[in-house]
Amino acid sequence: MTTRAVVKGVGHYLPARIVPNSEFEETLDTSDEWIRTRSGIERRHFAAEDETTSDLAAHAARAALADAGLEVEDLDAIIVATSTPDLTFPSVATMVQERLGMTHGFAFDVQAVCAGFVYALANANALIVAGQAKRVMVIGAETFSRIMDWTDRSTCVLFGDGAGALILEAGEGKGDASDRGILATDLHSDGRFRDILFVDGGVSKTGTAGHLRMHGKEVFRHAVEKLAQTAHAALESLGLSGDDIDWIVPHQANIRIITATARKMGVPMDRVVQTVADHGNTSAASIPLALSVGRARGQIKPGELIVIEAIGGGLAWGSVVLRW
Ligand code: UT7
Repeated sequence: MTTRAVVKGVGHYLPARIVPNSEFEETLDTSDEWIRTRSGIERRHFAAEDETTSDLAAHAARAALADAGLEVEDLDAIIVATSTPDLTFPSVATMVQERLGMTHGFAFDVQAVCAGFVYALANANALIVAGQAKRVMVIGAETFSRIMDWTDRSTCVLFGDGAGALILEAGEGKGDASDRGILATDLHSDGRFRDILFVDGGVSKTGTAGHLRMHGKEVFRHAVEKLAQTAHAALESLGLSGDDIDWIVPHQANIRIITATARKMGVPMDRVVQTVADHGNTSAASIPLALSVGRARGQIKPGELIVIEAIGGGLAWGSVVLRW
């Protein structure tokens, strides 16, 4: 028998304030038409002034616990993927732990920007397979609205806030691709490309939080190439191909990247969960949000084969193949 990290529950939270593209037309030389056609984004949610990343994460965590029919006592660990923590430290994960009233186990953050949730899932899977934890809450939560330069039209129209959470539980499988749970993970990074997507502030360098800077065209080029590569690698390790996939649940940065990646994988768009129009790019939160919304829409059902893939600052990228 093989130990598998099996999905037990999923949940999400989006802040109440919805900002349509048209709102940016009031302050920037941009248009709803440009934003829609270049990115596929129509609206995004922004956190309220007094709402922090840990608030969003705790809401999503409670929704996932309710979905799983579990209590906080049932969890062994919490991992939060975020690049927009409430404070430099402690971790958002320990803040969520406190918010849930969890006084046992352990909690920590993972920072791999838009690939953060993929990295966090791979970490949770490793903890479960190694027998160090039986049930792990994995959260992606972001308030990217806090690191936008509102005068930079090439970035500030693209991002949004939100959180999604997944609970993984140790289960037994046969050791082949018919098992439920995480079947393969594939992680990469290459720091040579750190200057094409970064935040220009930080504790050690400037003592400020800084603002997001992106050379969009460059990132786009890497994304289209690397996302299909990593998804293929993860599938190939299982002897599977695009034909075997029920759903791609991609990082939701740009509909053109999502479409190009699906095409390279030979997967039609009606088998791709798409939320970018409603959420914008929520960085590490985008995949768990898409999993939760996709499941609520009836797109993701038990037993289906799912590929998730993401790329972001670092560059860091990767994919996970799992059977729901
Ligand atoms: O989540 C992390 C990973 N991030 C991504 O995957 C993002 C990857 N990049 C992208 O999604 C796209 O590159 C963008 C959506 C950011 C931009 O689309 P693009 O087709 O690459 O446009 P561009 O950057 O080449 O800009 C085209 C034109 C430029 O004008 P000129 O130089 O051709 O006159 C920009 O100045 O569009 C202009 N532009 C805008 N115009 C209206 C840039 N931003 C805007 C805007 N409104 N908001």
